[in-house]
Amino acid sequence: MDIMHLKKVNGGDVPDYLHRKDDCMTPVPAAKIQFLPEDRAWIADRIQEVLGSGQLTLGKYGAEFEKKFSGLCGVRHGIAVNSGTSALEIILRSLEIDGRDVLVPTNTFFATAAAVVHAGGNPVFLDMDPDFFSIRPETVEKSLTPKTAGIIVVHIGGIVTAHMPALVELAEKKGIWLVEDAAHAHGSSFRSTSAGAFGIASSFSFYPTKVMTSAEGGMIITNNDKLAEESRIYRDQGKASFTVNAHVRMGYNWRMSEPHAIIGLKHLERLPAMIAERREIASLYDHGLAGFRNLRPLAVPEDGICNYYKYIAVLSEKQDRKGLKTILREKHGVSLAGEVYEEPLHKQPVFEKYCTGPLPISEDLCSRHICLPIFPGMQESDVHQVLKALKEVIG
Ligand SMILES: Cc1ncc(COP(=O)(O)O)c(C=O)c1O
Repeated sequence: MDIMHLKKVNGGDVPDYLHRKDDCMTPVPAAKIQFLPEDRAWIADRIQEVLGSGQLTLGKYGAEFEKKFSGLCGVRHGIAVNSGTSALEIILRSLEIDGRDVLVPTNTFFATAAAVVHAGGNPVFLDMDPDFFSIRPETVEKSLTPKTAGIIVVHIGGIVTAHMPALVELAEKKGIWLVEDAAHAHGSSFRSTSAGAFGIASSFSFYPTKVMTSAEGGMIITNNDKLAEESRIYRDQGKASFTVNAHVRMGYNWRMSEPHAIIGLKHLERLPAMIAERREIASLYDHGLAGFRNLRPLAVPEDGICNYYKYIAVLSEKQDRKGLKTILREKHGVSLAGEVYEEPLHKQPVFEKYCTGPLPISEDLCSRHICLPIFPGMQESDVHQVLKALKEVIG
């Protein structure tokens, strides 16, 4: 099937004959969450224990998770919370934005910009860097004003941009902070510095689809003692300490429960192996896609490690992505993963008042990329099925 045909397939309206599947085909899902049987047993034992002890929140497992996760990133403090969204908002509240502007990429998840608004700031949307789907120092520099409080860099798909050192240097030179939204980037790094260890503080998400999960959950990591202390206060209703009922900040219930921390601890132990599997799958895709004219895998920096939260590939020209996804699913049993992102934030109705005009690179690339299935436990035969399907549809 050629691209011209695909273009004619309107908004997922697929002709009948395309609904026919090869009989022996096993569906390849977009993602899969893996908990090995022995890990489930380990988790269940410890949940039994905390149910018995009654220590169900802010206990020893949360503290262990904080220590091990921040330790993995080479950062001194970890503050476990109930989502990546709350991790972001806590960091931004601690930094006291007070009506100032925060530069955020437009190709990110809703929560990155929403947290800025919730913390009392104004998001200023930046166009993306086509190379690593992040932002470029030149774009940041052009957008700075006296009202700029800081920048949020998002490691899209688990890629830490090669511009990271230059972005950190620029923020330091201009006297603004840099925060990393590392929701996608557990275990990723650039030149041996972990994602999350570049900025003044970083947020991670442990939502189920992420590279590692705690069911729901998030983590703030920072080397800044004051920010760590503020984050602990905000996380627990703005209380000066766990045992004292003096509310000194406009906090919230952003705590992580012990069962969540237990799940997170086990997945953290599996993280290196899960990333190794993802990287192997990515290298099979790299090989398999080398001959494609119409689909280019997004290159990752050579001196970095990408966890391949997403395997991103860019279509050579605007195509009917929805139709393509439907054909792959209906005819070839291949489900593509969600994009990063389908629509840039400056085009979302809720952020209309922060939109200052078109951001052409993001508008183009957001509509023109796809994310291939990638997950631990994916078989080589699944990869070949995906590649075969792509070849047939757009090869
Ligand atoms: C880039 C980014 N930031 C923040 C979040 C929010 O994380 P959570 O869903 O844990 O609140 C997500 C989650 O999807 C994300 O992808």
